[in-house]
Amino acid sequence: MNRPAARPAGPFEPRLDGLAPAARGAGDYEALARACLDPEVWRYLSEGSGAGLTMAANRRAFEHQGLLPRPLTDMSRGHTRLVLFGQALEHPILLAPIAYQRLFHAEGEMASAMAAAAQGSCLTVSSLASQPLESIAAAARGAGGTAWFQLYWQGERATTLRLAQRAEAAGCPVLMLTLDAPVKPSTLVLPAGIEAVNLEAPLTPAPIGPGQSVVFQGWMARAPDWEDLAWLRQHLRLPLLVKGLLHADDVERALALGCDGLVVSNHGGRVLDGMPASLELLPGLVHQVAGRVPVLLDSGIRDGRDVFRALALGAEAVLLGRPYVWGLARAGALGVAHVLRLLRDELEATMALCGCASLADIRASRGCGHLPKDSI
Ligand SMILES: Cc1cc2nc3c(=O)[nH]c(=O)nc-3n(C[C@H](O)[C@H](O)[C@H](O)COP(=O)(O)O)c2cc1C
Repeated sequence: MNRPAARPAGPFEPRLDGLAPAARGAGDYEALARACLDPEVWRYLSEGSGAGLTMAANRRAFEHQGLLPRPLTDMSRGHTRLVLFGQALEHPILLAPIAYQRLFHAEGEMASAMAAAAQGSCLTVSSLASQPLESIAAAARGAGGTAWFQLYWQGERATTLRLAQRAEAAGCPVLMLTLDAPVKPSTLVLPAGIEAVNLEAPLTPAPIGPGQSVVFQGWMARAPDWEDLAWLRQHLRLPLLVKGLLHADDVERALALGCDGLVVSNHGGRVLDGMPASLELLPGLVHQVAGRVPVLLDSGIRDGRDVFRALALGAEAVLLGRPYVWGLARAGALGVAHVLRLLRDELEATMALCGCASLADIRASRGCGHLPKDSI
């Protein structure tokens, strides 16, 4: 891979070779990352499913959410802090679970976890992480933070519970069960040496007989149902968030089972093409949840203004997906840290311009309103 030329690092000299100090936004890392990555890896990172309609809808939804300046507001006590599931965070920009991060940089998930912790944020470690989850959690702790863990159903109950309990034993304070991707056709042949090292066995469809469907009798035979979710919630002590439930009835049922939070997500437009933008669904789901549990959002966040928009529509926090991987690919932990810092700076500037001194002020919807589709 065509990485920026390595420069020998002296004992007191941090390695800054890949950083883009002139970057004005996270978006500036996109082209830099593309230049570092094998084209197949780039395609895996960037692609949406189907015709890419949902991926495009995610961006359009943010672009149509207008921002209204509110000058003359006192900002002297302004801050972006919050407490989420008992954890104090400096700002509401978390890192979404993204699989196989050693594809993007040799330091993989450990770099992302360290960077997130150092920036007052938190990585959600994917079930498909390419490094041991204990090492990733330790890297986050070493930088003064923690890492959450994302759980994929492992085909049956006992294996799923063992994986969740391993994350708990490693010190992960929150579990996030992703439910929107039960069918996982591989779109990438993993290079030798990169695999989902935390799984007891690779996620594969159940064996099928003649005339059976690889979807119905194969993949879906490995997927959880409502009874499995109820069982899992009963057997876990940690807070359990569900990611990818978007129908009001499903959300209601998950809350009735005791789930502790909701991630409104369409998986970055990578699963069911034709889903609406997650931002569009957010206000309805926030209304439905009515403060019973925190509601988080991902899919399409590209800068700090988008973070503001998501909070104005009721999210407690957001998860950033592809943009932090652009930083990772280009400059490892420093790149991830830089991307996070850029988003946080943009969020603070947006808050100041829109007269919001705290995240609660944003959620009270000062400074954000829906623009008619043809007004910009
Ligand atoms: C390359 C890639 C791998 C992903 N792997 C996972 C995963 O292992 N588990 C999961 O729950 N979501 C996964 N996601 C979805 C992200 O967690 C998140 O929902 C999405 O990237 C947010 O959209 P954005 O990239 O537009 O910010 C993945 C996304 C990408 C781009």
